[in-house]
Amino acid sequence: MHTSSLTCALIPFQGFLGSLESSSHSCLQWRNPKRTCSQKASKPYITAQLELKPPPYPLNSLEPHMSRETLEYHWGKHHRGYVETLNKQIIGTELDGMALEDIIILTYNRGDPFPAFNSAAQIWNHDFFWESMKPGGGGKPTGNLLQLIERDFGSYKEFVKEFKLAASTQFGSGWAWLAYKANRLDVGNSINPRPSEEDKKLVIVKTPNAVNPLVWDYSPLLTIDVWEVLIHSMTHQIF
Ligand SMILES: [Fe+2]
Repeated sequence: MHTSSLTCALIPFQGFLGSLESSSHSCLQWRNPKRTCSQKASKPYITAQLELKPPPYPLNSLEPHMSRETLEYHWGKHHRGYVETLNKQIIGTELDGMALEDIIILTYNRGDPFPAFNSAAQIWNHDFFWESMKPGGGGKPTGNLLQLIERDFGSYKEFVKEFKLAASTQFGSGWAWLAYKANRLDVGNSINPRPSEEDKKLVIVKTPNAVNPLVWDYSPLLTIDVWEVLIHSMTHQIF
């Protein structure tokens, strides 16, 4: 889960989610019935600045698979940019100080995203992406995860094949995910796919741009960041 540190300051309150306050989303009750609207504003409003979370390993430790230069650019520039943009977008709004996951769900707005969605989801996705890798990692998992993979995909080999296929067929930038799809009949998010034979199973899904499986209340387990690599590398060289 997201663990970025926060720094706080007092600023005047500005409304942001007024149009949503009358909807079931305003208290996020469909995600967490025990949660209250304690973050509703009273002046002065406490703002919390998200900070860029460092990668969980040295920037050169994924070589030769991912170079230090790629990490410096992808984490140090792109990921940092999402954090800086989101802080500007949410300062003084009802989103300020919320958990990143809640910002993602709220700003997804049932498939009609607010501008802050892209920044928030890309921060979460990249945090999760860095955690999906480690120096010397890879290979076949063990234990319960392997059992579930074999149950739901037939074999580890077939899972790898389907996962790669999902990533390679995502048009443009996006993500491929291994996720657990629970059967959540009580979820109030109308975007959540209808119950199906994939309930209570591992699933492979691909998502465009910043979208991630949290918006459907799935539990992500592994991800691949699908870059438009040529564009990124050309941009890097030009600028
Ligand atoms: Fe990325």
